[in-house]
Amino acid sequence: MNILRIIEKKRDRQELTKEEIEFFIKGYVKEEIADYQAAALVMAIYLNGMTKEETTNLTMAMANSGEILDLSRLGEIIVDKHSTGGVGDKVSICLLPLVASLGVPVAKMSGRGLGFTGGTVDKLKSIPGYKTEVDINTFIENVENIGISIISQTMNLAPADKKLYALRDSISCVGSIPLIASSIMSKKIASGADKIVLDVTVGHGAFMKNIQYAKILANEMIEIGKLANRETVAILTNMNEPLGYAVGNNLEVIEAVKFLRGEMPEDLKEVVIELGAYMIKLAGLGNNVEENKTKMLENIANGKAFEKLLQMVEHQGGDSAYLKDLDKLPKAKYVEPLVASKDGFIYEINAEDVGKIACEMGAGRIKKEDDIDYTVGIKLCKKVCDKVLKGETLAYIYANDIEKLQNAKISLQNIIKIDKNEIKKEETIFGICE
Ligand code: URA
Repeated sequence: MNILRIIEKKRDRQELTKEEIEFFIKGYVKEEIADYQAAALVMAIYLNGMTKEETTNLTMAMANSGEILDLSRLGEIIVDKHSTGGVGDKVSICLLPLVASLGVPVAKMSGRGLGFTGGTVDKLKSIPGYKTEVDINTFIENVENIGISIISQTMNLAPADKKLYALRDSISCVGSIPLIASSIMSKKIASGADKIVLDVTVGHGAFMKNIQYAKILANEMIEIGKLANRETVAILTNMNEPLGYAVGNNLEVIEAVKFLRGEMPEDLKEVVIELGAYMIKLAGLGNNVEENKTKMLENIANGKAFEKLLQMVEHQGGDSAYLKDLDKLPKAKYVEPLVASKDGFIYEINAEDVGKIACEMGAGRIKKEDDIDYTVGIKLCKKVCDKVLKGETLAYIYANDIEKLQNAKISLQNIIKIDKNEIKKEETIFGICE
């Protein structure tokens, strides 16, 4: 078999066989296929798509590119969660300690930032000392002992996805249904989940810009889940404006900590509570979704969810003192307010544009080897539909570079759109696919 022939086939819109897909994945992981050849094939997939069968074969080849974790020794149903990506998406940091505090075992492998979207791994790494790279035994022991561990893709789990994820990010090939579906499902299958709850984001700040495409992506992942014997539920959530108020790594950790202490932005609360209610249901710990939501709110109010976050951080080498006293976390050199130029109502805050500004300030990567600046980002003070008065603060920009700060300020002024008329609030949850 020959990689050039495989690239030509996909370039010419022909269907790849299971053997050709496996040849590509094995060769790429072994470094027998060069990055530039993989980039050409990925671009061809991005442009020409894949059949459902090709996507399933790609997913299984990626899942089988390393070890497949067997978590059966834990003797419980492991339910994993994954998002298709968003801006201000700190859901995992709020949700996973919360469901773990209710007895749902959490063994999660998260990703780093991708394109204009943030990644849980980068956010967790902004907590001083937190190690996302741990060995398999520590990962399993933490789940066994405290019920939760969140790690990065550092062990030999779906190494093909790790390579392709970084490659796609650096060649602008992220927003493709077969590439997203195979990336997510290969990781979930390899990391040993029995059941999976997916947050399929929709809107400006998501890779799926409309509900129609989001449903196709959700259904493809549900189908792959069925074939791999992993029950999967997908929740379609609104990502037109950033989720919550903070965008940027340690700014989002701060928001997540406050969330677990009871200070919950409405949209973030809806997403976390909906996903969690289904995680509890799939774990077999409560069939009634509404009752599950009540239990979750109770564990926020009584502090158990926040305690679980502290425990998780400590077990992964992090210093929980920074979370107990958020003022201790490192801060950006410049914090500048942006004020409203007129009275009115906010009618749009395009999440993709906000994500791009945060990325340009250093919260995300332009090249795959770029370092992240954990302290920079944007803290919005208003959400879409809010009333504003001229001179009122719309957002704070956190930067370490004066030129980047000024550029961000100019861009953000145009992104937060104000009109004299009030608009109707959109739904946060668009639907559930099972
Ligand atoms: N999350 C992933 O893990 N992979 C994608 O491709 C997109 C979001």
